[in-house]
Amino acid sequence: MTKINITETVLRDANQSLIATRMSFDEFAPILHKLDNAGYHSLECWGGATFDSCIRYLDEDPWERLKKIKMVVKKTPLQMLLRGQNILGYKHYPDDVVRNFIKMSVYYGMDILRIFDALNDYRNIEVAMDETKKQGAHAQGTIVYTISPIHNMDNYAKLAKQLEEMGADSICIKDMAGLMMPQTAYELVKAIKETVKLPVYLHSHSTNGMAEMSYLKATEAGVDGIDCAISSFSSGTAQPATESMHFALQNCGFDTGLNAEGLKEINDFFKPVRAHFIKIGQLDPKVLSPQPEGLTYQIPGGMLSNMISQLKAQNAIDKLDLVLNEVPKVREDLGFPPLVTPMSQMVGTQATVNVLTGERYKMILKEVKSYCRGEYGKAPGKINKDLLAKALENEKPITGRFADTLEPIFEKTKEDIKDLTERDEDVLSYILFPQIAEDFIKSKKAKPSEEQLREDVKADVI
Ligand code: CO
Repeated sequence: MTKINITETVLRDANQSLIATRMSFDEFAPILHKLDNAGYHSLECWGGATFDSCIRYLDEDPWERLKKIKMVVKKTPLQMLLRGQNILGYKHYPDDVVRNFIKMSVYYGMDILRIFDALNDYRNIEVAMDETKKQGAHAQGTIVYTISPIHNMDNYAKLAKQLEEMGADSICIKDMAGLMMPQTAYELVKAIKETVKLPVYLHSHSTNGMAEMSYLKATEAGVDGIDCAISSFSSGTAQPATESMHFALQNCGFDTGLNAEGLKEINDFFKPVRAHFIKIGQLDPKVLSPQPEGLTYQIPGGMLSNMISQLKAQNAIDKLDLVLNEVPKVREDLGFPPLVTPMSQMVGTQATVNVLTGERYKMILKEVKSYCRGEYGKAPGKINKDLLAKALENEKPITGRFADTLEPIFEKTKEDIKDLTERDEDVLSYILFPQIAEDFIKSKKAKPSEEQLREDVKADVI
């Protein structure tokens, strides 16, 4: 029987897409053992926004979280999402930081690193891929999927070939906005499988109600694995339900390796967790049903809600239609970048600014200027000539890899903050999120250690 590998996303992507990554370690700790025994191919549990959220909102050390997960999950490989040269932050970091971060992640127990670049400019993932392999972990190269006049099966197959040549252990097709149609999924997986010998994984979101259908068509084309979320944290902006996909695939003659009883226990555990997040208003039931407007505008759901709140803040919500019409224009002018972080924010905000100022590119965002200079990598298509000239302001664009212009900072930062911490893990957290990490490290130090606590209690009793 053909095996289809299932990756469970409840701890990372589903957590991020439905409840803004607010699930704490303590909330999911009791089910880790069962997750480990359900037969998953891997457990996506770290990376993406989890790191930021741990420090910013949950008062949790992200490194400790990873260590504690690994202490329980011993059989199932742990998986993370890494934004290439951006690591888990929002800008490009020098190579020494990328390498140290990956080294530490693997040391703490990470097994599979899914690595992507928003522009599919693989110069921005080559260092991360290289270090992942050096550390003996699995390097999954990613193709970010988007729809545009310049993106076609040929490009995607070429990207897959490039990933294979770079030494990727497997390939992920990342449909972050859930825009992929079933027949496209079939053709895309087929084209990539015919081009490379590597296992191919499909990652999608049920946002537009397409993912289940696309997954099924992808399995017909020979996909090796798909990402699912346990049903109480599935669908809508998250992934298709693990149990439903398991039964459907079994019915089609595939083996998922999952045991249905285990899945039921896991879902029973997460039901009250979901109820809790609905009760406190963190999970808006609206995001649980498909919102196929995304297929018309071809923009991710998160981007749409961002634009609406920006316009509301400017008292200009009546301009929403104008902005929605401006988005494709800006995207075209920028050479059709995929609308994923940070490009989705950049395109959405520039479109809003164009409409609100009443003149296209009267004001150019700082980020758009950096993009035009080549600081984010190579634009997939051609940048509009006039915009480019205006954005560059007589400066020369960078043609090489932007990270090559960045000086190493790890050792220097370590020296600079030696009074704050001596742990390399903290130095990495600090480099990624300087302001919040500083307060976080201080408050962590201020907390008495467990041993100290025990001592204190004893002292009190005496
Ligand atoms: Co995703």
